[in-house]
Amino acid sequence: MERSIPELVSQLTLEEKAGLCSGADFWHTKAVERLGIPAMMVSDGPHGLRTQDMSQDDQNVSIQAVCFPAGCAAAASFDPDLLRREGAAIGHEAQAVGVGVVLGPAVNIKRSPLCGRNFEYYSEDPCLAGELAAGFIDGVQSQGVGTSIKHFAANSQEYRRMSCSSDMTEQTLREIYLPAFETAVKKAHPWTVMCSYNRINGVYASENRRLLTDILRDEWGFDGFVMSDWGAVADRVKGVAAGLELEMPSSGGVNDAKIVQAVRDGTLSEETLDKAVTRILNIVFRSVDQAASPRPALDLEADHRLAAELAKQCAVLLQNRGALPLRRGSDVVYIGAFAETPRYQGGGSSHINVVRADGALEAARKHGRRVRYVEGFPADRDQRDEAEFLRAVEAASTADAAVIFAGLPDSFESEGYDRTHMHLPESQNNLIARVAAVQKNTIVVLHTGSPVECPWADDVASVLCMYLGGEGVGEAADALLWGDANPCGRLPETWPIRLEDTPCYLDYPGNGRSANYREGIYVGYRWYDSRRMPVRWPFGHGLSYTGFVYREAELSAPSFSDGGSVKVRVSIRNVGTMRGREVVQLYVSDCTGTVGRPAKELRRFCKIDLEPGEEKQVEFTLNARDLSHYEEELGDWYAASGHYKVLLGHSSRDIHATLDLQFTTDRHLPFHLEENTTIGDLMADSRTAPIVAKLVERFGNSLTGGNGGGENAAISNEMMEQMIAAMPLRGIVNFGGPDAADMMTGLMQALRAALGEDAKS
Ligand code: BGC
Repeated sequence: MERSIPELVSQLTLEEKAGLCSGADFWHTKAVERLGIPAMMVSDGPHGLRTQDMSQDDQNVSIQAVCFPAGCAAAASFDPDLLRREGAAIGHEAQAVGVGVVLGPAVNIKRSPLCGRNFEYYSEDPCLAGELAAGFIDGVQSQGVGTSIKHFAANSQEYRRMSCSSDMTEQTLREIYLPAFETAVKKAHPWTVMCSYNRINGVYASENRRLLTDILRDEWGFDGFVMSDWGAVADRVKGVAAGLELEMPSSGGVNDAKIVQAVRDGTLSEETLDKAVTRILNIVFRSVDQAASPRPALDLEADHRLAAELAKQCAVLLQNRGALPLRRGSDVVYIGAFAETPRYQGGGSSHINVVRADGALEAARKHGRRVRYVEGFPADRDQRDEAEFLRAVEAASTADAAVIFAGLPDSFESEGYDRTHMHLPESQNNLIARVAAVQKNTIVVLHTGSPVECPWADDVASVLCMYLGGEGVGEAADALLWGDANPCGRLPETWPIRLEDTPCYLDYPGNGRSANYREGIYVGYRWYDSRRMPVRWPFGHGLSYTGFVYREAELSAPSFSDGGSVKVRVSIRNVGTMRGREVVQLYVSDCTGTVGRPAKELRRFCKIDLEPGEEKQVEFTLNARDLSHYEEELGDWYAASGHYKVLLGHSSRDIHATLDLQFTTDRHLPFHLEENTTIGDLMADSRTAPIVAKLVERFGNSLTGGNGGGENAAISNEMMEQMIAAMPLRGIVNFGGPDAADMMTGLMQALRAALGEDAKS
């Protein structure tokens, strides 16, 4: 429809404009009827619709919708296309019920396994999280419904989430906590972004100009509007100026009045307010223009089937010593109440009112499996009943295999609070150990939103992690256990052996006022792999019922320079007897000598489907940004010239091919030149090396006290080189004889001239 938003804005009163910058109620933007501005409805998100039933007064009563695999599970698909399908189905449901914007995806980085909301989030790795988020956004928005990528930014804990400050270096923020947003914004253009509750380095996200305007809009080109998380506004006027357009849900008019007052007294320009209103109206009308008419019908049954199909591709086979798949016709005992009532979603704002959620037991019965069932332990609490335990152990001892459906009760992890430990209920650990002692084919199926300690891992045959797989999780578990489907999920986060091994163990969650991100960029596998620590299961890990080999890995060229790119190719063959999916992971390792780089970082991944005996070639393109780190001194991404390794493999710890790559750039980091600059630093730079080489030739021996050089000398040539490298330039004055002081002045001039503008003192 033809309309001019600037004209509409010009017809609004100041009060109306301020009013449009906050919600009408919990789930709607405001309408201005006299100008034909409609309200727009928003709904959680992220893995299904939590849409208020408007026939009820209670904003927490939702209509029925389908619960798809939660973020933790969906991420384990390592498949942006799967997220696209999930998103498209949610977008379609949103059209059916008149929702304009779905409040998701949620892409906060899993800094600690303890974060209560990890089940909604994707990964410890920003590359994976960003690509998956882009897929989800594409999917939802393909249906003419917007998304709100959240929670921007650095909201990696629930403890005091509304006031705590996430304190970190610029480099950590840029390399770990922002790139998932950056990728999604640049690739998929979400209609809206939701700012987080917390502060970042002391400044609330809701009034953080650097984040909401300088980075999000100016650097990344975001063109939608930013809404607050529910109740995240501290100073509303500062927020409008910083780039927070919409306050949700509403402040009952209190903050609107502050905006009006600020414009009147000149502390907020009306132009800034107009810009905010324009951005909101752009999206409201985009939603109007793309609203389906008539609305499509809700088909919850079809979406349920899709949820089950997707869940099959999200489960991760963590361990398999031959017990899976179960043999058809064998006598199997299912133990644990999760077999009947699986945990498939988490608590809080993402909680979906489902029509049904199938358990694996029901699915097994439907498919005519030979399955007996003993509850063993309840699903909602840590309860040990010795008679029930004995029944379970007895049944397991006489069966061909025992499958224990374990997991975290709802109260163990949820939005709003963090876990304090990584344990399963003690009753579950105990029964698993007892069953494993009598049954060699013991299989554990896990229903958790984040990693748990598995002290029994070495004693059981197989472990299948369903995460929180959505309402089709039971059907999916059944198909995977009995070999009707082949597991193809990969871990989007490392499973540590114990909580004490985690990178931020000593700092998480902080003192409530501040959370110090001292581990910096060493989050997840960046930490475990750099320290070569044993882990329970590494990032990217996941088994299959078939096998894959990697062949003929190659680079299109052994080197490339800034502005260019290189292609990486590898062929993968399915060498087993079952169709399966492999996730090819490409990591880059910086071997240039740049200080503080992790052992490897995921830069690309790709999931491929292979029939038995089939082979496919995968090709990735890498550019300078893929080799880069964020260089605070430059305020930019930077890759040093030198040697990089490209690692191709099945997980971060299972690398099948290593390729050597050279990179060259003309860019230089600022060079700090003063009398304390070391000879080694000057020798390492091609511009200053020739000047300093002459000096070393002249003074080398005296710089080491005359002890160096020669086979029988006290200091060998090699030792001497190292000693000289560590020597500051001023050493020349100390050791260089009577004319050294004068020479120093000339030397500094020559070095400065060689470095040009890059020289800094
Ligand atoms: C959550 C958001 C959610 C919003 C609306 C907040 O408490 O942090 O993720 O979208 O509520 O339910």
